[in-house]
Amino acid sequence: MPQSLLSIAYLVAAVLFILSLSGLASQETARRGNLLGIIGMLIAVAATLLHPAVEAYGLALGAVLIGGGIGAALAARVAMTAMPQLVAILHSFVGLAAVLVGFSSYLAPIEELSGAARAVHAVEIWLAVAIGSVTFTGSVVAWGKLRGSIGGKPLLLPARHQLNAAALALTLLLMLPFLAVGQGAGVILLGIMAAVTSLLGVHLVMAIGGADMPVVVSLLNSYSGWAAAAAGFMLSNDLLIVTGALVGSSGAILSYIMCKAMNRSIWSVVFGGFGGGPAATAQLGEQRGAVTEISPGEVAELALSATRGVVIVPGYGMAVARAQHLVNELTELLRGRDIAVRYAIHPVAGRLPGHMNVLLAEAGVPYDIVLEMDEINGDLPETDLVLVIGANDIVNPGAESDPSSPIYGMPVLQVWEAQRVVVFKRGMGAGYAGVGNPLFLHERCDMLFGDARESMQAVLSALRER
Ligand code: TAP
Repeated sequence: MPQSLLSIAYLVAAVLFILSLSGLASQETARRGNLLGIIGMLIAVAATLLHPAVEAYGLALGAVLIGGGIGAALAARVAMTAMPQLVAILHSFVGLAAVLVGFSSYLAPIEELSGAARAVHAVEIWLAVAIGSVTFTGSVVAWGKLRGSIGGKPLLLPARHQLNAAALALTLLLMLPFLAVGQGAGVILLGIMAAVTSLLGVHLVMAIGGADMPVVVSLLNSYSGWAAAAAGFMLSNDLLIVTGALVGSSGAILSYIMCKAMNRSIWSVVFGGFGGGPAATAQLGEQRGAVTEISPGEVAELALSATRGVVIVPGYGMAVARAQHLVNELTELLRGRDIAVRYAIHPVAGRLPGHMNVLLAEAGVPYDIVLEMDEINGDLPETDLVLVIGANDIVNPGAESDPSSPIYGMPVLQVWEAQRVVVFKRGMGAGYAGVGNPLFLHERCDMLFGDARESMQAVLSALRER
C-alpha cells in the first residue's frame, strides 16, 4: 500500500476513534460509538498489515490469531463482576508492549539516526519504557487488589513520598548518560531504569487504599494511553500517537471527574496513602441484631403505597446477584400501577465507571428514569421509598459524619432523607471500602436479607398477588 493511502487510512481510523468516543458519551449512542471504534480498529490493523515494511505475514497472522483467540475467549467468559480486573490486566499489556517495543527499537533500530534525531529518538525510547513499566507493574498490582489476592489496605512505607521522588529523579538523571553512551552500556541503563520505574509502579498502587481504587483504574487507563502514544513517537506511527493521546487524555479527564465525585484531590490519589485506616464505624458489621428486618410482602405493600415515588439505588451486589432483569420487571410492574420509579446512580457504584448504567441498559430500563447522584439527591426527602439493591459504601452516611472513615468526604446518595429505605443484601457484610454502615441502624431503614435476586423474586411474587 503506498504511503499516501496508508496516511488516509490512518486518518479515517483516527476520525472513527474520535466519533466512537463521542458516541460512548451517552447511553443512547453507546452502541453506535462501539461499532465505530471496531470499524476504526479494523481499518487500522488492515492498513498496518499492508504497510510496505511488513513482510512476515505468517508471524503477524499467528500473533493476531493467538492474541485475538485468547482475547475473545476471555471476553466471552468474563463475568460482569470480574470486568474491572480484566480491564486492569489489559492495561498492563499495553504497558508491557511499550516496554518491549522500546527495548527492541533500541536494540534493532529501523534506520540509523545521527545527531539530534538520534537523541530525540533515544528520549522517546526512554519515556516509552519508563511510562510502560509504571503502567505494567501498577496495573498488575491493581489487578491483584481488585480480585482480592492483594489486600485493600494502603501500604504506607516510611518516607514514601521521598522514595517516589528519588525514583523519579533517578529516572531523569539516568537519561543523561543513556544519551551519551553506545548500545552495550545503553541497554544496561535502560534495564536499570525499567527496574526502578517498575518498582515505582508497584509502590504507587500499593500505597492506595481500597476506596480510591476506582480512580487508580482510570489513571492507569490514562497511563496506558500515554505509553501507547510514546510508542507511537518511537515508531513514527501517527495513528498510535493519536490513539494513545485519545486514551491518555480521556483517561485523565475521567480520573479528574471521579476525583471530583469522590471529593479527593488527584494528587492525593496519584501519590497514595489514602483510603485506608480504621474507622469509628468499622465494627458495625457485628450488629445484625440491632437492625429491623422486613419481609418481601411488606416491601411490596410499601412500594404500592409509595404515591410520591420509588427510587432504586443499584450497587455492586445487584451485579453479583445478576438481579437487574428482575429489578426492571419490578419497575415495569410499579409503573403499570402509576407509581413513579427512578434510579439513582452513584459515580463509583459497582466496580467500573458506568457499571450500573451498562447493567440497567442491558436489562432494558428506560434511560430517562436513570439519574445521576447530583440530579436526584435533592428529591430524596420527598420520596416515599428507596430500595437499595446490593449497594453499601455509596449510601453510607459515615462518609458525611465520620471523619475517621476512609470514605469520609466522598459525596453519597442521601437515602436516609427519604421517608423509608429498604436495603437488599445477604447479611451485614461491609462494602468495598471495608467500613460499617450506620444507615442499616437508622430508624427509617429496614433490611431485607438474602441474595438480591431471590429477594427481588419474592417481592415480585408478593406484588403480583396484590
Ligand atoms: P459495595 O460498597 O462494595 O457494597 C456491595 C454490597 O453488596 C456488599 O455490602 C454486599 O453485602 C452486597 N452483596 C454482595 N453480593 C450480594 C448479593 N448476591 N445479593 C445482595 N447483596 C449482595 O458496593 P457499592 O455500594 O456499589 O459501592 C462501590 C464501592 O466499590 C465503592 O467503595 C467504590 O469506591 C468501590 N470501587 C468502585 C469502582 C468503580 S469505578 N465503580 C472500582 C473499584 C472500587 P453482603 O455481603 O452483606 O451481601
